[in-house]
Amino acid sequence: MYKEIDAYEYMNEIMKGLKTGVLLTTQKDGKVNTMSIAWGAIGIEWNKLIFTALVRQSRYTHDMLESGEFTINIPMDKRNKVIAYCGKKSGRDTDKIADMKLTTVDGRVVDVPAIKELPLTLECKVIYKQMQDENAIPAAILNKMYPERDMHTMFYGEVVSAYIVE
Ligand SMILES: Cc1cc2nc3c(=O)[nH]c(=O)nc-3n(C[C@H](O)[C@H](O)[C@H](O)COP(=O)(O)O)c2cc1C
Repeated sequence: MYKEIDAYEYMNEIMKGLKTGVLLTTQKDGKVNTMSIAWGAIGIEWNKLIFTALVRQSRYTHDMLESGEFTINIPMDKRNKVIAYCGKKSGRDTDKIADMKLTTVDGRVVDVPAIKELPLTLECKVIYKQMQDENAIPAAILNKMYPERDMHTMFYGEVVSAYIVE
């Protein structure tokens, strides 16, 4: 069951979730993977509601995002173990969804599934992406956050569906 929501009514939950960690789930070539994110933004550009995810190029998720779609899965209770695990292990080496016994449910508009245990869901289609320009980042931040110059790509996901999995 899906309870459709107006994403604008849930900005608090989305931002609070992001602060401690949410999941970004992808599907490509029949494989599903999820990773924890805590950096990102939700806002308006080109008159569209857009969730911008910052994913380092070294992540398996970065490759998976070639599919052009993702879901954002926000816990509505404490899911610290899931966020810690999915933020440490790589989908290159293990099936994190199975390891954490998470339940996937079909996406409504996108092919990527939602996750029942992290029920507040944003379905997103990538409409733009841009690698961060290391020359435009203040030196103190660059040296602290990117000692290996493993820059983030900003994936702009237009929110095409928002709901709570019940
Ligand atoms: C709380 C938390 C937040 C994280 N936020 C981000 C993020 O915003 N962007 C990012 O690229 N990696 C972030 N990470 C690291 C990735 O989740 C981690 O490298 C993960 O293993 C990548 O999985 P993958 O290789 O399956 O894509 C975060 C990790 C944790 C624990």
